[in-house]
Amino acid sequence: MTEPIRNPDIKFTQIFINNEWVNSKSGRVFPTINPCDGKKICDVQEGDKDDIDDAVSAARAAYKRGAPWRKLDASKKGQLLNKLADLMKQNISYLASLETLDNGKPFYDAEEDIVFSIETLQYYAGWADKICGKTIPVDGSFFTFTKHEPIGVCGAIIPWNYPIPMMIWKIGPALACGNTMVLKPAEQTPLTALYLCSLIKEAGFPPGVVNVVPGYGPTAGAAIAEHMDINKVAFTGSTEVGHLIMQASGKSNLKRVSLELGGKSPLIVLADANIDDAAMWAHAAVMTNHGQNCCAGSRTYVEASIYDEFVDKCKNMASFRQVGDPFDALTQQGPQISEEQLNKILGLIETGKKEGAKLEFGGERSGEEGYFVQPTVFSDVKDDMTIAKEEIFGPVQSIIKFTDINDVIERANNSKYGLAAGVMTKDINKALMMSQNLEAGSVWVNCYDILKAQTPFGGFKQSGHGRELGEYALHEYTEIKTVTINFPEKNL
Ligand code: NAI
Ligand code: MG
Repeated sequence: MTEPIRNPDIKFTQIFINNEWVNSKSGRVFPTINPCDGKKICDVQEGDKDDIDDAVSAARAAYKRGAPWRKLDASKKGQLLNKLADLMKQNISYLASLETLDNGKPFYDAEEDIVFSIETLQYYAGWADKICGKTIPVDGSFFTFTKHEPIGVCGAIIPWNYPIPMMIWKIGPALACGNTMVLKPAEQTPLTALYLCSLIKEAGFPPGVVNVVPGYGPTAGAAIAEHMDINKVAFTGSTEVGHLIMQASGKSNLKRVSLELGGKSPLIVLADANIDDAAMWAHAAVMTNHGQNCCAGSRTYVEASIYDEFVDKCKNMASFRQVGDPFDALTQQGPQISEEQLNKILGLIETGKKEGAKLEFGGERSGEEGYFVQPTVFSDVKDDMTIAKEEIFGPVQSIIKFTDINDVIERANNSKYGLAAGVMTKDINKALMMSQNLEAGSVWVNCYDILKAQTPFGGFKQSGHGRELGEYALHEYTEIKTVTINFPEKNL
């Protein structure tokens, strides 16, 4: 753990193309806001379609046959990724401070995000020269092998909730596989992505390998999704925009699409679980990152016999949660990202009350300025209530009662989403049966939100397409080429 820098200098606010800093073609800028007080931190160059075109041209040139990046040995590509990881480590307190300023998450959480990102880069650095095809025993006198080749120019559109990890989860595997990239950070949190560009340049990546264009979704984001010369787009964000990204691919060049979208993940607590541990995990599952977490365990199902005791424990933990200045070492929860998100969350809390859920704790805005929300706990939540169905993306726990284990599996699966699920039990048979039957890309047993560089992560159903992290993410950044050679033994 390092010491935060309360007022980090803002060093980079321009568009990064070809390892150079440029202004937007339109001359427009947009403000990035400090969510602690709603005030502008600084203006950032606002990229749009013309800037995306330039970035794609640079990424295409860097990908051309004979270009330095294409000629670089795979092992050397891995070394560059390791170098970037080293530079992030050297600059961790500045980078975490900048993230805390722009995003509002507690400084020590920002630091944890960076540590995870460094581990992710190191993991993919190791893969760079280990991406292999197969030899295949085909019928007839032929010799067939496959090669896992890069896809080409990859676009990435990322959200504001984990700005640094979301960037690294994409550039790590994309570059390890030999692609080039054009990335658009979220308009709410452009600053750390731009600082990372300076480290990418310092690490020695050739110009055009990574290009970052800050800007808004319907303009710069849509220009990536619709681009005719981008071969793949990786998106993390809302399910609503996920639909648009796939449509844009369909209407343009059928670029490959991977999507990591929303969730309404169930966390199921059986009566035999260690109740204190389960309550702690359930609290963290939904409160982590202020609830701004795609895999938040936002439906807490609790078996009837322990329900009242469990609700009390959750209420108690919410009451002790420290909300406030994210630069303060004791703070567990800073502000939500924006006024829009604040209003969405407060609106859903009101709907919860109106539809008959019992407000056990919180439910209000916190503080005079900024976008703070009290940690909030509802009990007596029913499956058909809005707060049990919609992604709130805020610190709001909805505790739901169940009596039958088979019934709760059905209820947990009754969602358009399928990103994650949790099970708390001491009974290994129940744990295995439930993990088999829950429709979710990740199932955590007696823990929650355990993501590592090695663990594939992604969604079933409308939570997305494809997987990030782990070996599986390499599939999202490679094409498979089948080479078949005529091998007629009779002529020898
Ligand atoms: P969003 O999906 O609009 O934004 C995510 C990214 O997509 C940003 O970079 C944005 O600029 C871009 N984008 C927006 N519209 C686009 C378009 N038409 N074409 C291409 N790119 C576009 O999410 P937003 O509005 O910030 O949050 C809305 C809700 O989405 C949240 O309340 C939450 O429920 C969910 N969300 C889920 C995330 C996740 O990690 N799965 C992350 C952020 C939001
Ligand atoms: Mg949006």
